[in-house]
Amino acid sequence: MSNTGFSTFACLFFACCFCYSIARPTKLNQEASNDRPVIGILTQMISDTAMKPFGKTYIPSSYVKYIESGGSRVMPIGLTLTTADYESIFRKINGLVFIGGAVDLEKSDYARVAKIFYRLALKANDNGDFFPIWGTCMGMQLLTVLVAGKSLLEKTTADNVALHLNLTSEANSSKMFEGFPQKLMSALTEEPLTGNFHHYGLSVKNFQENEPLRSFFSLLSTNVAENQVHFVSTIEGRKYPFYGVQWHPEVNRFQWDRKLNFPHSAHAVQLSSLLAQFFVNEGRRSLHQFDNLEEEASSLIYNDTPEYAGNFTGYEQIYFF
Ligand SMILES: *[C@@H]1O[C@H](CO)[C@@H](O)[C@H](O)[C@H]1NC(C)=O
Ligand SMILES: *[C@@H]1O[C@H](CO)[C@@H](O)[C@H](O)[C@H]1NC(C)=O
Ligand SMILES: *[C@@H]1O[C@H](CO)[C@@H](O)[C@H](O)[C@H]1NC(C)=O
Repeated sequence: MSNTGFSTFACLFFACCFCYSIARPTKLNQEASNDRPVIGILTQMISDTAMKPFGKTYIPSSYVKYIESGGSRVMPIGLTLTTADYESIFRKINGLVFIGGAVDLEKSDYARVAKIFYRLALKANDNGDFFPIWGTCMGMQLLTVLVAGKSLLEKTTADNVALHLNLTSEANSSKMFEGFPQKLMSALTEEPLTGNFHHYGLSVKNFQENEPLRSFFSLLSTNVAENQVHFVSTIEGRKYPFYGVQWHPEVNRFQWDRKLNFPHSAHAVQLSSLLAQFFVNEGRRSLHQFDNLEEEASSLIYNDTPEYAGNFTGYEQIYFF
């Protein structure tokens, strides 16, 4: 394949939550806690012809519900603003999500804006200003391109298949899975709880051979693609609160297309819920805020109405911009 970093067409979904408070609570040991978080979701460029009549960019509602279900509000972020605008938005939001899609991860508007936020987040965290980022599917791939400074993606097709995770020895001591009950950790390795919709990904080999990636991220799980390539399926920053999943936790609760293998079992729902809750809890540690309540209100996704899309996409509802 070309090294342009194309992700998978259906690397589309993401979002999750549910608050099954079992076992240890997610760690929240900062003095201050922001109980009115706003998480930004970067809108995705439309490439699907069926979606083109509706706008230039979109966010599937499943990602929005996923974040909302963790106890956060959502701000959609467009791709055509200036760097100064993004710097201003960064000072107001408490975390950021890179969703799935199918765009060039080095040259697209999406990649340009993601890079601006990524650099701001690195600097903020370095200065003690906690700021988490979550990437799903192509969003995870994007994080690896940003950290490595280039695309190391290759063909790792696992499309429309639900898989169990091959957890690494680092998974047990990870932040992402810290609050998980042992029973769910076992289920993760035995039951097909993770929906995969991708053609490209990062091989375990490329991950391990790239020093910047290996030192930046802990590898929490791997899976095997159709072509037998072992690919990276879950990662988290060792130092920075940046998280990536090649699979789609949001579909487990918020997508229902019968042609697609979305895991909907009780464990699948619990997994989706706990991860959304985990990420929003990370967002609570950010004290960024809007300048005033009017500005906040007008920035939230509540100003937008999703369209019914169940009859022409794999999503039930989509926000178009
Ligand atoms: C699981 O991952 C280990 C490395 O962590 C690897 O050696 C093994 O082959 C993998 N097994 C499967 C079934 O993916
Ligand atoms: C994680 O910990 C559990 C319980 O201590 C253990 O059974 C399991 O093998 C560990 N998993 C890994 C991948 O190390
Ligand atoms: C999908 O359904 C809506 C009504 O809910 C309808 O207006 C629209 O034309 C349908 N789209 C397609 C592609 O069938």
